[in-house]
Amino acid sequence: MDLPESTKEIALPKDPLEMIIGQSEAVEAARIASKQRRHLLLVGPPGTGKSMIAQSFAHFIPPPRQEVAVLHNFSNPERPVLDVREFKPSSNREDGVVTPISKVPRYIAEKLSSRCGVCGSVTPNLHICSRCGADRQAKGLSPFEDLFSSAGNMARERVYATRKCPDGKEEITVYERIDDEKVRVYDNKSLTRIIDSEVKPRKVIVPLKRSSFVQATGASETELLGDVQHDPYGGHPEVGILPYMRVVPGAIHEAHEGVLFIDEIAHLDFLQRYILTAMQERKFPITGRNASSTGASVRVDGVPCDFILVAALNMSDLPSLLPPLRSRITGNGYEVLLKTHMEDNEENRKKMVQFIAQEIVKDGRIPHANADAILAIISEAKKRAKNIDSVSALTLRLRSVSGVIKLAGDLAFMEGAELIERKHVEAAVKRGRTIEEQVSDRYGSLWRAGASEYGYRIDKGDGKEVA
Ligand SMILES: Nc1ncnc2c1ncn2[C@@H]1O[C@H](COP(=O)(O)OP(=O)(O)O)[C@@H](O)[C@H]1O
Ligand SMILES: [Mg+2]
Repeated sequence: MDLPESTKEIALPKDPLEMIIGQSEAVEAARIASKQRRHLLLVGPPGTGKSMIAQSFAHFIPPPRQEVAVLHNFSNPERPVLDVREFKPSSNREDGVVTPISKVPRYIAEKLSSRCGVCGSVTPNLHICSRCGADRQAKGLSPFEDLFSSAGNMARERVYATRKCPDGKEEITVYERIDDEKVRVYDNKSLTRIIDSEVKPRKVIVPLKRSSFVQATGASETELLGDVQHDPYGGHPEVGILPYMRVVPGAIHEAHEGVLFIDEIAHLDFLQRYILTAMQERKFPITGRNASSTGASVRVDGVPCDFILVAALNMSDLPSLLPPLRSRITGNGYEVLLKTHMEDNEENRKKMVQFIAQEIVKDGRIPHANADAILAIISEAKKRAKNIDSVSALTLRLRSVSGVIKLAGDLAFMEGAELIERKHVEAAVKRGRTIEEQVSDRYGSLWRAGASEYGYRIDKGDGKEVA
């Protein structure tokens, strides 16, 4: 095989799914599933790339378009009203438009208190203009100042105004201060959002800007399904916190329109049933899940949770996967068994080189590896396939190989070496031995180690031991 001089020369793929080596079947399934919004069940031993596939998966999901909020229900506060809004893709109008402060009308800039009302210069937001010395807190720059602001000319975060549109209509415009240089301008369309959030009793529980990847591994019931927090005053209008303010979404809601990743899904136990319901209905109520809390009487029905499920588990846990959940996944998705090793050939050795380069770059703290070190790592991958899976191949249990690379990298780093060399890899392999391996090296067997620990003397020759 043509080896590079060092892993520095290896160009890494841009597509995160191409970083996953030796699992072409799973990668292919992930590619299709992300395009077609199908579920994915990844089965395989630890360290073979399940989490990595799930994470790359979310890369290919279009960004969310809906925002989910709850509103105060005046007639029945314990049944907050659900408010789901759809935004067009690639429209940033809800964010307003960022404009330099010099472009906004002067009287607005003054109110935002970056422009001096006397000399007109844009200066930092001080009480006294640093250019002309005018007292910005002094009243009288506008006869209506008192009507609008009690703080005189001091900085205001937002100024509400109207402006004439080309069609002659007047529209409300809001100017929001970002810093001394920039202002965000909201027009009529983008405005609904901020007015609503300010004026109406409304709480956004799943914002428009969110990650498409939600990890719910080992989640508790409330983390998974949402909750309504306890309020010692029971939401009493004067002293308590109103129920809608206490609504908390679960991971299934946060994953709405995105990917819900559950590692070791069988360990979710009875919660699997709820996942199944959520997948069937694509919505799931949020209610207080602690019977003794005042949240328990609050309920929001029909909160959307249209997620793609990516679940991972070990082969041995397959029997604990709820059968209807499994058939729900495979009925509208794919289940893939991950590979533990790949054939030792030229092409796959190249992939190993790519993997080594990737691990080094991802780590960011260790030097690159030279050709000899690459060979040593590949032969270690081969040895592991033989020891663990009894095959003559290259292992794909890559987390442990990654551990060797990092340890070798640390040794090289501590030595001040420019590149990882073979000796570092060999030392790393020695040091990286598991406790079981260390014990069997030192004592010969696990049992013997235990015996000497507890004060038995072990006879070396005839097998009889004495206390
Ligand atoms: N097929 C693979 N291709 C590239 N790197 C891998 C692969 N499998 C595992 N790794 C490496 O091992 C690490 C752990 O893998 P992970 O996806 O968390 O395994 P799993 O979820 O199956 O236990 C990854 O971060 C990556 O560095
Ligand atoms: Mg994992």
